[in-house]
This record gives sequence, structure tokens and C-alpha cells, in this order.
Amino acid sequence: MIPKQLIDILKKDPKVVVLTGAGVSAESGIPTFRDALTGYWSKFDPQELATRRAYSANPAMVWQWYAERRQTALDCDPNPGHFALAELEKMLSNFLLVTQNVDGLHQRAGSKNVIDVHGNIDRFKCFDHNHPVDSWEETDKLPPLCPKCGSWVRPDIVWFEEMLNTEQIEKAWDASKQCHVFLSVGTSSVVYPAAALPEIALEDGAILVEINPNETPLTRYANFVISKPSGEALPTLIEAVTRNT
Ligand code: OAD
Repeated sequence: MIPKQLIDILKKDPKVVVLTGAGVSAESGIPTFRDALTGYWSKFDPQELATRRAYSANPAMVWQWYAERRQTALDCDPNPGHFALAELEKMLSNFLLVTQNVDGLHQRAGSKNVIDVHGNIDRFKCFDHNHPVDSWEETDKLPPLCPKCGSWVRPDIVWFEEMLNTEQIEKAWDASKQCHVFLSVGTSSVVYPAAALPEIALEDGAILVEINPNETPLTRYANFVISKPSGEALPTLIEAVTRNT
């Protein structure tokens, strides 16, 4: 399943950037966004849930939707794909994991150098001033209120039409420009600016690897395509790279 040439490249300790998307967490039981029958965006309109406008219009409903997603993430465990990426980080001198996932499963699997470009569903800030919020007074009313300014608490994730954290995306950008190998795993490669990272890496001469059971707009540019679920492909890849042959 894993091309020998790719194994040989990874054995040489190249600079590696990995970009992950919802597919990596699918085998943990967390729905993706765009899979036709099971994805969140096949059932819900993102404009009614994942924008500032949606929160202003229906704060209690949107809060509740994210509370349920947060609980799902906390109830799920990292899968062999998450653990394999944590192993890969230990094997390499220069490694960055950029994830679009907000579920925190990479960190729970032991990955250290992680940028969660779309935020984390278990972190909170306030709606008006972005004050970080660790706790709040529980009342009958939802959403809870920021202890500092009294505005609504919201999940610290990136909604549609919002900017990504500049420092984080610049770090991901620089690493992508400099890497030798870029792995795109479990993402549909349609949401920018994250989807630009493999494009930048390619422009600067990196080897592009895609792990995804389905084709994406990136597939035709990839040097290596592994059309398998990441929970299967990543452990096999790591096992092959660590094997002494
Ligand atoms: P998508 O739902 O768009 O894409 C998930 C990808 O995972 C698809 O290409 C599937 O083929 C693939 N996939 C499914 N099961 C897999 C498995 N077991 N192993 C490997 N791949 C698998 O999710 P993302 O690309 O993450 O944004 O979506 C990007 C962003 O769009 C999300 O971060 C979210 C969403 O709107 C925000 O919340 C800001």
C-alpha cells in the first residue's frame, strides 16, 4: 500500500508538514463536513450555524449545537491515525502538524507541534472582545456570559467569514514553503487559506502526499496518493518507515 520510494524519502529525516482535516477524526466517530450522507454540512446549513450572523440571530440554538459537538469530541478517543502522526513527529527533527480540526484529538494522541488553524471547540472566548473565557456562571439562560465584559461566550473556533489567527497561519505558511514533504490527510482541500498550504509547498518543490479514500482537487498534483482511510494508512506508513530494512 505504501510506495517504497516514499518510505525511503521519510527515512532520510526530511522537513515534514502535515495538514489534516475532518477525515482523520472520522474513524474516531466524529462526522466530517462534506461527506454526502454523514457530513455536518449535508444536514445543516453552515450559514445558520457557523457565522457571527447566525450566533446573533439564534444564540441559544447555536450554543447548543456546538455544546453537542464539543461533547461528541470529548467522548471520542484518538484513533490509530492520530497516534501514528504523534509517532511520526517523534521520529523527525523538523515536523509541523497543521490541523483544521477543532476536536483536540491530535493533542490528546500526543502530538506536540500542532497549529489548530480553525481553533478548538473546547476553548472559549467572548463574542464582543475576544476575551479568553475559562469559566462562567451557570444560569438557566444560554449562552453564558463573559465574566469580564458580560457579552456572550462563544467557542474559540473560526467561523465562516472570519480571519484566521495571523501568527498561526504565517507559521504554517513558512513551514510549508520550507518543507521537503507535505502530507495532506483527510481533507477535501476546498477551504482556504488552509487549502493553499500544499499549493505553496508544491510551488517550492516539496513532495506532496495525499492520504484520502476519495479524490480531491489536490489529488492530481500529488506525487503519492494513498487511497485508504488514514487510520489504516498512517500506522502502515509509520511501521514501514521504522522497519530496519
Ligand atoms: P471535509 O468534510 O470537507 O472533508 C473530509 C475529507 O475526509 C473528505 O475528502 C473525505 O474523503 C475524507 N475522509 C473521510 N473519511 C476518511 C478517512 N477515514 N480517512 C481519511 N480521509 C477520510 O472536511 P475538511 O476538509 O476538514 O471549517 O473541511 C475543512 C473545513 O470546512 C473544516 O475545518 C470546517 C469546514 O467548514 C471550519 O469549521 C472553519
